[in-house]
Amino acid sequence: MTVSDLTEADGLLRFLKASPTAFHAAAAVCRELEGFEPLNECDPWRLRPGHRYLVTRNRSSVIAFTMPSDTLRSFRLIAAHSDSPTFRIKENAELVLRDRYVRLNTERYGGQILSTWFDRPLSVAGRVLVRTAGGLTTRLVDLDRDVCVIPSVAIHMNRAVNDGVKLNPAVDTLPLWGSGSAAGSFRGAVADAAQAAPEDILGSDLYLYNRVPGCVWGINSEYISAGRLDDLECVYGGVRALREAAVPAYHADVLAVFDNEEVGSTTRQGADSGFLEAVLTRIAASCGADTGCLLAGSLMLSADNAHAIHPNHPELSDQQNAPLMNGGIVIKHSANQKYTTDGVSEAVFRHICGEAGVPLQTFANRSDLAGGSTLGNLSARHVSVSTLDIGLAQLAMHSSWETAGALDVPLLVRGMTAWYDAPVTVTGDGEMMLC
Ligand code: CO
Repeated sequence: MTVSDLTEADGLLRFLKASPTAFHAAAAVCRELEGFEPLNECDPWRLRPGHRYLVTRNRSSVIAFTMPSDTLRSFRLIAAHSDSPTFRIKENAELVLRDRYVRLNTERYGGQILSTWFDRPLSVAGRVLVRTAGGLTTRLVDLDRDVCVIPSVAIHMNRAVNDGVKLNPAVDTLPLWGSGSAAGSFRGAVADAAQAAPEDILGSDLYLYNRVPGCVWGINSEYISAGRLDDLECVYGGVRALREAAVPAYHADVLAVFDNEEVGSTTRQGADSGFLEAVLTRIAASCGADTGCLLAGSLMLSADNAHAIHPNHPELSDQQNAPLMNGGIVIKHSANQKYTTDGVSEAVFRHICGEAGVPLQTFANRSDLAGGSTLGNLSARHVSVSTLDIGLAQLAMHSSWETAGALDVPLLVRGMTAWYDAPVTVTGDGEMMLC
């Protein structure tokens, strides 16, 4: 292995470090997409051929796109999500215990593996709304220090601790913030991070994050571990691809990064909202095109990580469709269409990745396991285009520190770039033509 093989893995680690919350991830996406002109949903848009744009909603979802240099005939889409399971800090955050301890009052955001949040340095980040002379302004905050720990109960106090423990999120996972003298300090610490007076903060969305830094590891440096690989690994791939891809002639390249996938996507900025549909409709209108015509020939990749076969529990995977880390991009299938992949969308992607030399593998749940859900089938309720679900193989999904293949990152970038660049069109009945 050469050092250059890890260039994309290192880029991913930098992106993850900059993205402790969905708000920070959205800001990092906008920074990475240098040269993309920011648009505001409240303004009229005048879009020019061959130019690149981006628009955010709630500061936690981003849609970025490249207009075609010639005639707009379809959209080439990639979707991924900016959020990950964590703990939200509740209002009235401090819980004081007998004047000796101050804990933070938290509730679960999404379906995390609770045990993975114990005994490691944690911090607090998110966004606050600050009162200014002109009204209200949003500021991203990150305490950016080791400020909390959720301590385990010692084995001497719970001899059954290795026999399967039920954890109560109202009791067991409250993080310790400080000693009794720390009472009353939380609001001030957040206000300091926002460079605002505590009384000027009128609203907030604050979350815990794992401070353990991400790293590349393994005897051959073949693995990468960090918090939030699901799904910032796919967001990173999409951003790199959108930058790398050539300006298309006859389609618009679109990257949609949605918040709130982990809690069902039904928010104003989620995959099950009108955000993407509104943006595509405005792109179509700016070209005098009919949205229905454009969607009929469009293609979408719904990109969210997949489960690798587990080294200690291979029996949990399907016998024939169990992907490996560093084995290439994973195409996800499910009969009940929780994953949108069908024969048509799979064939188009296999054609494109075959031309680009990107290896593919397949995932399906064991037929007696339900599996998770993702973006594609929810987005399709609003923007009904031929879609397939892909991701990279990873272990420990929804742990606060997940593991994936370091060598898969450049393969994802190459496959997604080829997706944007591929000279293909489809029909509503699933015929694909080279153009
Ligand atoms: Co995910």
